[in-house]
Amino acid sequence: MTKPILEMKQITKSFGSLIANDQVDLTVQPGEIHGLLGENGAGKTTLMNILYGLYRQEAGEIYIDGNPVQICSPKEAISLGIGMVHQHFMLVHNLTVTENVILGQAKKGQLFINRQEAAAQIKAKAEEYGVELDPWAKIEDLTVGLRQRVEIFKALFRGARLLILDEPTAVLTPPEVEQLFQLLTNFVRQGNSVICITHKLHEIKTICDKVTILRGGRLVGTYVTNEVDADELAVLMVGEKAVTPVKSRKSGNNKVFLKVENLTTELDEGDSPLNQLSLEVYEGEILGVAGVDGNGQTNLAHCLAGLKQPKDGKMWWAGKEMNGLSAKVLAEQGLAYIPADRHGTATAMGMSLAENLICRRFSLAPFSCKGFLSPKAIEHYVQAKIKDFEIKTPSPLVRLAALSGGNQQKVVLAREIDGEPRLIIAHQPTRGLDIGSTNYVHRVLMEAAQKGASIILLSTELEELFAICDRIAVLYRGQVMGILPAQETYLREVGLMMAGRVEPKGVDDHHH
Ligand SMILES: Nc1ncnc2c1ncn2[C@@H]1O[C@H](COP(=O)(O)OP(=O)(O)OP(=O)(O)O)[C@@H](O)[C@H]1O
Ligand SMILES: [Mg+2]
Repeated sequence: MTKPILEMKQITKSFGSLIANDQVDLTVQPGEIHGLLGENGAGKTTLMNILYGLYRQEAGEIYIDGNPVQICSPKEAISLGIGMVHQHFMLVHNLTVTENVILGQAKKGQLFINRQEAAAQIKAKAEEYGVELDPWAKIEDLTVGLRQRVEIFKALFRGARLLILDEPTAVLTPPEVEQLFQLLTNFVRQGNSVICITHKLHEIKTICDKVTILRGGRLVGTYVTNEVDADELAVLMVGEKAVTPVKSRKSGNNKVFLKVENLTTELDEGDSPLNQLSLEVYEGEILGVAGVDGNGQTNLAHCLAGLKQPKDGKMWWAGKEMNGLSAKVLAEQGLAYIPADRHGTATAMGMSLAENLICRRFSLAPFSCKGFLSPKAIEHYVQAKIKDFEIKTPSPLVRLAALSGGNQQKVVLAREIDGEPRLIIAHQPTRGLDIGSTNYVHRVLMEAAQKGASIILLSTELEELFAICDRIAVLYRGQVMGILPAQETYLREVGLMMAGRVEPKGVDDHHH
C-alpha cells in the first residue's frame, strides 16, 4: 500500500472560546483529488491554514509522506511540497505572469533568475497540463480565471505536490471551471494531490475521488464520492436540520417599476462598458441578468446604485428619473445594493460585525435619538439579524475579518436587505455561501418580490437564475442580447446568447 501524502490527526484549533477544528482527521493519498465540504463556518479554511503554516494547531499531528512534521510558516509548508491558492489572490498587478511566478524564488547567491528561461518553462509546463498561459501578459490585463491559473503555477513552480484550493470555482465562468478541472486532473495523474474546498456538490461528484465533510468544526467522515449521491452529501453536511427548499411564488404584476433606456458608459478597465443597454423590470418581479463575468454587470449595477454616472442614457424608477441621484439618496429612497466584491466597498474588515451591520443606519431612529446612540436598540437589532441570517459568530463584537468567508457575505446581505426596499440590485449574492444559506438568500429575495420590490439578480450561475427569476436578460459585451422567460426550455438559448451567438432580437416578446 502506498503511503498517504498527507495525514492530519486529531487536529484541534480554537479562537478564544470558539473551537474551529475539534480533533479533525484528514488523510490524502497520492494521485487523489480530495474534496473538503461543510457549511459556512464549519472550519474548512482554518484546517487548511494550519496545513499551510498560517495557524498553529493546539493539538494534533501532521505527517507528510509518513513523516511527522511541524509547519510553522508558509515557507516551511512550501518546502514540504504544499501549495495553497487562497480565495483572494495575492498577485502583484503591474508585473507580468513570469515575474509573479518567479517572485522571491531566487536561490541564495543567485542575483536574478533568467526571465526568458523562466517564461519558456512556464509555457512548457502549461502545455504539459493542457492549458494556456501567456508568460508575458501583465496580471492587470488578465481575467480572474487566468489570475487564478497564475497562482496555481506559482505554487507548482515552487515544487507543490499537494495543492490546496479554497473555493476555486466561486469566481470562475463555466469554461474556466472546465479548464481548471483539466489542469487538476493532469496534475494528479503524475502522482500529485489536490485538496479542494467547494460548496458545489456536483463539482465534488465530478472531480473529487474522496470527500471529507466537516460540521461545526468536527469531522463527519470521509467518503468515496462514487458511493454517495449529492443528496446524501447535503444531509451529511447540514446534519439533522432539513434544508428548506425554495417555494414558488406568483410573478410580478404588469406595472413597470424600473426602466432603463440606452444606457451607455465610458470605457473602463475591469468590465465591458454598457452600450445602449435597455431593459425594464416590473413591480414584484425578479429579473435575472445572465452573462459571463465582465460583460457589463458591474457597470450596470454601479449605474443603477448611483455609484457611476452613465455617459448617455436614462434610468427611471416609479416614473421618476434616477440619473444624477447619489448612492446615498437612492439608498434612502429604497434602493438596496448587494455588491459582488464583498471585500472592497461592501465591508470594513477591521470593524466589528455589529458596526458593519448598522453602519448605514446608525444616525437614524431607533439607534440614535437626539444625537445619542441607543446601545439597547442596536443590540436588539444586531441580535435579530444574526439569528435571521444564521450568522455564525462567537459575539457581535468580533472583527468582521475573524468570520468565515460565507459568514462575512451574510453580514452584507443582512445589512442590505433590510426594511422594505423598492429596488434590490443583487450582484452574485450567494457566492461562497453553503446550500442552506443560498436557499435562505433566495427566500429573502423572493419574499421581497412578493411584497412588491423589483429585483435585478446579476449572476453567473444559471441554476440560480432559473430557480428564482421570472425572466432572464442575457448580457453580452455591454448589451442585452435578449430577454427570455426563466423556464428550463430556454436554457440552451440563454447559453448561446451568453456566448454572443444569437442576433439581438425583439426584447421581451415572450412575456407580459
Ligand atoms: N482569525 C480568526 N479569529 C477568530 N475566529 C476565527 C478566525 N478565523 C476563523 N474563525 C472562526 O472559526 C470558524 C471556522 O471558520 P472557517 O473560516 O474555517 O470556516 P469555513 O468552513 O472556511 O467557512 P466558509 O465556507 O464560510 O468559508 C468560524 O466560526 C470563524 O468565525
Ligand atoms: Mg472558508
